[in-house]
Amino acid sequence: MRIIVTGGAGFIGSHLTDKLLEKGHEVIVIDNLSSGKKENVNPDAELIAKDIIKENITRDLYDRDVVFHMAADPDVRSSARSAIKSFNNNVIATFRTLEACRKARVKRFVFASTSTVYGETDVIPTPEDHPCYPISNYGASKLACEAYCSSYANSYGIKTTVLRYANIFGERSNHGVIYDFYHKLKKNPKELEILGDGTQDKSYLHVEDCVSATVTAFEKQDDIYDVFNVGSSDKHKVNEIAKAVCNSMKVKPKFKYTGGARGWVGDVKLMLLDVKKIKSLGWAQKISFKKGIKRYVKWLGS
Ligand SMILES: NC(=O)c1ccc[n+]([C@@H]2O[C@H](COP(=O)([O-])OP(=O)(O)OC[C@H]3O[C@@H](n4cnc5c(N)ncnc54)[C@H](O)[C@@H]3O)[C@@H](O)[C@H]2O)c1
Repeated sequence: MRIIVTGGAGFIGSHLTDKLLEKGHEVIVIDNLSSGKKENVNPDAELIAKDIIKENITRDLYDRDVVFHMAADPDVRSSARSAIKSFNNNVIATFRTLEACRKARVKRFVFASTSTVYGETDVIPTPEDHPCYPISNYGASKLACEAYCSSYANSYGIKTTVLRYANIFGERSNHGVIYDFYHKLKKNPKELEILGDGTQDKSYLHVEDCVSATVTAFEKQDDIYDVFNVGSSDKHKVNEIAKAVCNSMKVKPKFKYTGGARGWVGDVKLMLLDVKKIKSLGWAQKISFKKGIKRYVKWLGS
């Protein structure tokens, strides 16, 4: 197939590009390189350096079979400080990409959404049909994108897959709690600042498993529009992650907490997704949390 991956110079998008090429597809990456890097893009893929908010991508989509829309501002924390940035890079960019699909007659769309659309819930693990009440601007922006995905699927026949990712980590990631701990410990191995009280308890999935779930849903979905949770079957407290990163780096710092139940405005304290639906398509997690952290920390140090 002839595929476009927006955000293909970023963390998840670049791994997805590698996998799609490995499966024999032809891939073009569209990325403004705001947080993504040229060197992340597989040399067998073409890179079009464009900002989806400012530049028209309709022509780039002519004759393409599928768009995987991974481009976004994925930072929950900064979305509280700059709501407009996540609105533009998420809602506006997704709307413009869907419009480009409609005009270029692309009939397949895959969208990277997030577990944060659910907000805080007592239903753990949380299934896909649970109501969504996001508590962050980032989560709200992604939920708005999902609404447009549903409307474009039903109005224009663009078969669409929405993937609600848990916390994804691994090689090439330049954000998230593990990345943050690693760099803090590199600077000062004697003390580690932990945002919140360390009891936030969430699901973490290695990027290799995230990509295999994405491809499985893309290949096996029947309906014109469907939503899949993508995450691990276990959850881990921030304190546990701190200990795992310290063990991998062979350091024993003193933990210093900023305090409060949340690490930042919009931080969801408890998150575990019900992943029965994606599993029913034949997907299974292959990389354990422990193994994933070791691999990622090794990569960060390389
Ligand atoms: N990493 C996670 O834990 C996680 C969790 C849930 C959902 N997601 C979603 O998965 C997707 C990929 O996330 P990631 O962690 O790889 O992020 P990332 O920042 O590494 O990748 C995003 C890419 O999009 C590009 N981009 C941003 N705005 C753009 C624009 N206006 N025009 C063109 N390119 C633009 C960036 O340069 C970057 O390469 C995002 O949609 C994110 O919201 C990620």
